[in-house]
Amino acid sequence: MTTQATTGQVLVTAQDLRAALSAILVGHQVPSDQAEVIAELLAEADLRGVDSHGAHLMSMYASRLADGHLTPRTTVTTLADNGSAVVLDGGLGFGQIAGLEAAKLVSARAAEHGVAAVAVRETTHLGALGAYTARVAAEGRICLCVQNGPTFVPPFGGITPLMSTNPLSYAIPAGEEPTIVYDIATTAVAGNKLLLAKKRGDPTIPPGWANDTSGRPTTDTQAASVRHLQWFGGHKGFGLALLVELLAGVLAGSSFGTTERTASPLHGDARIAKGVVFIAIDPERFAQREVFTAAVDTLIREIRGSEPAVGVDRIWLPGEPEHERQKARSRDGIPLSPVLVDELRRLAAAVGAPPLRVRAGDDTAPGGA
Ligand SMILES: NC(=O)c1ccc[n+]([C@@H]2O[C@H](COP(=O)([O-])OP(=O)(O)OC[C@H]3O[C@@H](n4cnc5c(N)ncnc54)[C@H](O)[C@@H]3O)[C@@H](O)[C@H]2O)c1
Repeated sequence: MTTQATTGQVLVTAQDLRAALSAILVGHQVPSDQAEVIAELLAEADLRGVDSHGAHLMSMYASRLADGHLTPRTTVTTLADNGSAVVLDGGLGFGQIAGLEAAKLVSARAAEHGVAAVAVRETTHLGALGAYTARVAAEGRICLCVQNGPTFVPPFGGITPLMSTNPLSYAIPAGEEPTIVYDIATTAVAGNKLLLAKKRGDPTIPPGWANDTSGRPTTDTQAASVRHLQWFGGHKGFGLALLVELLAGVLAGSSFGTTERTASPLHGDARIAKGVVFIAIDPERFAQREVFTAAVDTLIREIRGSEPAVGVDRIWLPGEPEHERQKARSRDGIPLSPVLVDELRRLAAAVGAPPLRVRAGDDTAPGGA
């Protein structure tokens, strides 16, 4: 895989992107150590080609910080600890900080107990869930992560907003092969993919992504409503989203359904809280580590080496496209749309932070080269 900036795109290094994102956060009073962690996770998403959950999110975070809906300093507290089951409170701070803490904890507790679960209430947007499950898998544990959130997606067949895009990720450690990282919204696509397409001015979106506000399927980017995303696989994606809602909302003790709007006198409809549940399994309780990871490698190789259908170049494992993109973008740079680069520069200027440095493709903006 190689990375080339298409017409108008700008190439940036992950390091420069991290620095620019961190400076914007610090400008909004986020403590510098936490800003660096959040910026690291956002730049990592862009590096892995999950563009909907990288630098594109900074405008949302900046406006939430400016509106007082997102707490600049994240304080995570423990509400209950039964060893293999822990409940944390994310203090309506950054989901990235609470998410990493929960991921570290679930991994450690799975090592101790074999199986563990950590729930986080009152946290907010975490970005790409695969970043957290992959870190747990890197420590040798199998990890599942689910997250609910503000209610704007109707149940299958309906038009009343009651669910979120309810993402789900799992990661499984392999031996010599790349970690399997499955990371999806249970809607056909993440809401931020549609928002990014709107931001870029893409005229159309693929069929099956979203409906208009009356619930009619559409491929017109502007008519497509982020409040009317379609479920992936119709009723099947909706069923998985319901599992996510029941774990991350109901079991975790977070808001769900209409409680989202009524639970918080402070924020009302603008409430941004999300619930998260991590579940981790230590495979060593089932088999020797090397035996397990070698068997995972065997399955990966059988799948990758199986005969592709007509017109298919290659069979991929979940996580492989991102793994390949990460190698290519680390080498060639991360392509950003000019709209996003302008947005990041405006966000930086608003808090007196230095502008994003770019590598190639930008003739006009300052700081280029
Ligand atoms: N924090 C939130 O509130 C929130 C909400 C929704 C989604 N998200 C994030 O949005 C991101 C994108 O979600 P999405 O549903 O649009 O993802 P998507 O439809 O792009 O699917 C991505 C997954 O599919 C795998 N994949 C891609 N092509 C493949 C192929 N040919 N064969 C096998 N596997 C393949 C990828 O490795 C990855 O695991 C995820 O990182 C998710 O965590 C976050």
